[in-house]
Amino acid sequence: MKRVDNIILIGFMGSGKSSVGKLLANKVNYDFMDTDELIEVKQGTTISEIFSTNGEEYFRDLETDLLLSLKDKMRKTVLSTGGGMPIRDKNIKLLRKMGQVIYLSASKNTIIERVSKDTSRPLLNVNNIGETVDRLLGLRIPIYEKAADIIINTDKFSLEDIVAKILQALNHIP
Ligand code: S3P
Repeated sequence: MKRVDNIILIGFMGSGKSSVGKLLANKVNYDFMDTDELIEVKQGTTISEIFSTNGEEYFRDLETDLLLSLKDKMRKTVLSTGGGMPIRDKNIKLLRKMGQVIYLSASKNTIIERVSKDTSRPLLNVNNIGETVDRLLGLRIPIYEKAADIIINTDKFSLEDIVAKILQALNHIP
């Protein structure tokens, strides 16, 4: 295990980071934090509003600022991150210093099934959701894979199964 005892969940929108993270935190008796939630609380508004008022780059700056503010004080925490967090190399470096980075992977079909009824994600508030997910997955899968210590596939698995797979994988890291 890395010396820093945090577990960081990365992955595409709809990969289950928040649901898995809450259950995992509960199982290992860690705190749970979610970067989107922390940003919304700090800014006093929603992610959608931030995107529409200030644009994506501004939101990406808020993500980096948040990691910088957490990096030295977060302990025994499961941190669920927004799907675009690892886009910035700087964020990957910070996340890897903060704890074990776990990539929750999911297929295009699983993602579309999980996100299609939710309008809270500005990047997926589009007519051609299939094409958009395809394009973003193409860009991001290599980034997630590069950032991760451990990759866990979530297609067709229950939350309990995914948490069990993560715990098993963590025990196998020297
Ligand atoms: C984003 C993912 C969202 C949120 C924002 C942008 C992305 O988080 O940070 O809408 O770029 O993939 P979730 O992955 O929790 O949906």
